[in-house]
Amino acid sequence: LKLAIVGFGYIGRSYVRALNRKLDLLRSIDDGFKVVGVADIEGYLYNADGLDLGRLSVITKITEYRGEKLYGGSAIELLEKGEIDLLVEATPTNVKDGEPGLTHIVKALTRGIHVVTSNKGPLVVAFRRLMELAKAKGVKLKYEATVAGAIPIFSLVEKCLRGDKIKRIYGILNGTTNYILTRMHFEGVSFQQALKEAQERGIAERDPTLDVEGVDAACKVVILANSLMGKDLKLNDVNVTGITKITPEAITLAKRAGYAIKLIASIDDRRTVAPKLVPLNHPLCVHGTLNAVRFEMDLAGELTLIGRGAGEETVSAMLNDTIDVLT
Ligand SMILES: NC(=O)c1ccc[n+]([C@@H]2O[C@H](COP(=O)([O-])OP(=O)(O)OC[C@H]3O[C@@H](n4cnc5c(N)ncnc54)[C@H](OP(=O)(O)O)[C@@H]3O)[C@@H](O)[C@H]2O)c1
Repeated sequence: LKLAIVGFGYIGRSYVRALNRKLDLLRSIDDGFKVVGVADIEGYLYNADGLDLGRLSVITKITEYRGEKLYGGSAIELLEKGEIDLLVEATPTNVKDGEPGLTHIVKALTRGIHVVTSNKGPLVVAFRRLMELAKAKGVKLKYEATVAGAIPIFSLVEKCLRGDKIKRIYGILNGTTNYILTRMHFEGVSFQQALKEAQERGIAERDPTLDVEGVDAACKVVILANSLMGKDLKLNDVNVTGITKITPEAITLAKRAGYAIKLIASIDDRRTVAPKLVPLNHPLCVHGTLNAVRFEMDLAGELTLIGRGAGEETVSAMLNDTIDVLT
């Protein structure tokens, strides 16, 4: 299998390091496994015989990769000219029109190339269209990394719970807001102080609007509902309230009564993202940047998964999606 990566930022680079670490495993599944292309905004590297993963693992920009021509064209050119079986898409999320990832994914699927993506944008704006295109072309579109990072939600439901019906999915799907609420809960600081601290520690983006207004969690609601509950939702089908108006007083009152305030995303007959009171001893009451997802199934009853919703651990989901394509 010949793989190309588009987007060589935090996730793209972390994924390359994971491939390098797991190369023996990957080659034991497919002895022809190689990375033939890597693209970012500067252009792309392409070598049909494979790029050196060891060298790719230690650079921060593709312009630093020595001994290979850097083509000035876009990722689209790479997808059109290269001999590629799998695209790994890791460009920035854009929830308005899904670009540039949407065009990359459509181009790949149209050409019969499998796709693994960590980018939510294209799925939020065009979930059904992309899944139908993948099906028509007989290729896989895998997106485990887009919801709750390293927690294997989609593969668990699709492989282990096929006989169950999901009655409800709810949980904490945004690590930044959970970190802020945790600091407010344990340290008694204001929302603004906790946000500033999260930004200083690199947990919150410089523009944290999508996280603190609940939009990032709403994107995950859209992907979960469309993927696992057969819906065809768009972002404006989710009722969203963020955490910006939560005061230290509200947190203290909740705490005295044995609760924490958490930003809970919920999908049943209604789709909501809103701050909710969660009992301190409830399985969903996880702290820091952790994510937690709870399913209510007709046979299995309640199941809760807890894990890293973002960060380097996310590449576990992408690597396992890659292995799914290989097998
Ligand atoms: N970080 C996480 O923990 C995490 C977890 C789960 C999912 N995700 C998702 O994974 C994706 C990547 O995240 P990240 O943290 O790696 O972001 P990032 O560090 O900003 O990296 C994005 C990369 O995409 C490149 N890029 C931008 N436009 C491009 C284009 N048109 N063609 C080719 N490359 C382009 C950027 O190049 P320049 O830097 O030169 O602009 C950069 O290399 C996002 O969609 C994000 O939402 C991230």
